[in-house]
This record gives sequence, structure tokens and C-alpha cells, in this order.
Amino acid sequence: MSSIEVSLWRGGKDGRYQVFSVPQRANQTVLDVVTWVQRNADPTLSYRFACRVGMCGSCAMTVNGRPRWTCRTHISKVVENGKLEVGPLANLPVIKDLACDMQAFFEKWQAAKGVFAPSKTRADAIENIEPATAPRVAADAAIECINCAVCFAVCDTVRWNEDYLGPAALNRAWTLVNDVRDAGTRERLTAIATSGGCHACHSHQSCQEHCPNKLNPTASIAGLKRRTMQAYLRGEL
Ligand code: SF4
Ligand code: SF4
Ligand code: FES
Repeated sequence: MSSIEVSLWRGGKDGRYQVFSVPQRANQTVLDVVTWVQRNADPTLSYRFACRVGMCGSCAMTVNGRPRWTCRTHISKVVENGKLEVGPLANLPVIKDLACDMQAFFEKWQAAKGVFAPSKTRADAIENIEPATAPRVAADAAIECINCAVCFAVCDTVRWNEDYLGPAALNRAWTLVNDVRDAGTRERLTAIATSGGCHACHSHQSCQEHCPNKLNPTASIAGLKRRTMQAYLRGEL
């Protein structure tokens, strides 16, 4: 049976890559390779996953220099000369090995007011939203985010500007700005018009290029730039 040479990041920020030889199998994913190492070579290897089917967003790692969902990446697509290098996501602190600390990522989600603010009570009738209306179409295009942080890891504005809210949190804010049932738009636009908000994005589209769900946070952020500018001109910000 042939094998592949896999370099896995070990330790924290000052760690190093450790090389393992892993048997190669048909239809093997990067997550399968990492799991093989943990089960057969070193049970102390730390990494994170849950669903294995591209739904939970917990298995993202840097694979041969690029952030990817490891459960949905077949090694046949990424192995170079029989070698694979797997590290933690960039732009987040490493806890240990392949697991990074997602706290800053989710705090930015909160800072962008990424939580639905209800405009109705339980006593009100459920509102019908027509699928073809412009706000619903805009929200639909951005709503399938699973919080994997791939876009956050690849965004160079996140790297340079620690206050920047990042593509995922801003993309989420855009879905809520387009939700006609939400009552938090003014507060949300105020939060994302700050110096670390939507206007810090330079629109080079790395987030859109790398999002495994084929979402386009750059377009969502462009929408937020327009909406914050309109609100400012109306004197609402
Ligand atoms: S926008 Fe895409 S890459 Fe970014 S967190 Fe959501 S699913 Fe992941
Ligand atoms: S387009 Fe904006 S959010 Fe996306 S990667 Fe570039 S700077 Fe980051
Ligand atoms: S393990 Fe859930 S998305 Fe990969």
C-alpha cells in the first residue's frame, strides 16, 4: 500500500511541523488523514471536527497553505508530490496543534450585531416573507454561512487590523439588515460603520474566492457600505 508524507503542526504559536507517514486510501479526505494519525500514531494530537459532511464548520485547517474544510477536501485534490502539510487556521491564536481559539471570531460576530432583534412578540401572527422580494433575495444569497472562519483566515485586512470585524460577521450583518422582521438595523449599521467595520474592507475578494459554501462576503460588505452611506446622508448615523 502506498503512503503519503503528512506534516502536521504540533504545539502552540512557537510549535513546529511533525512528519507522519499515513497509508493512502481511495476517497480519503484530509480529515481522514488527521484522524488516522490521532488514532494510530499519536493520540495526543489535538484537532476539531463534528459533522464530517460540511455542515458544522468546525474542521477548517490550513492545507498546503490554503484554508479549507478538511472533511470535504479529498487528498487527491491537494497532495503535492506525495506530501501534505496541515496547520491551524491563520489569523486566530493556536490553542494546540490544529485547534485554534475561535473566541475573537465569534466576538466579532457579536460586535457586528449578528443576532436577530425581534420586532414582534409571541402574540403576533407569523409574518409571511415573499421569496421573490429584493431584501429576501439578498438575504438568501448570504445566509448559508456555517461559521467555519475560512474567510476570516484568508482576509488580509483581518491580519493587519485587529479591530476589523471580518467577512463572516459582516456577511451575517447583511442578512439581518435585509430581514424585514428585524428591528435592530440602526444599531447594527452604527456598529458596522466604525473604523473596524465594513469600510475597512478593500474588496479584493479573497473571502469570496475561498468560501467553501460559495458565498460572496465581498458583495454583502459592498451592500453594507451602500446602506451605511445612505443612513449617514439621511442623518441616521
Ligand atoms: S462566509 Fe463562507 S468561509 Fe466565511 S465563515 Fe461563512 S461559510 Fe465559512
Ligand atoms: S474582500 Fe474584504 S472581507 Fe473579503 S478578504 Fe478582502 S478585505 Fe477581507
Ligand atoms: S466536520 Fe463539520 S464541516 Fe467539516
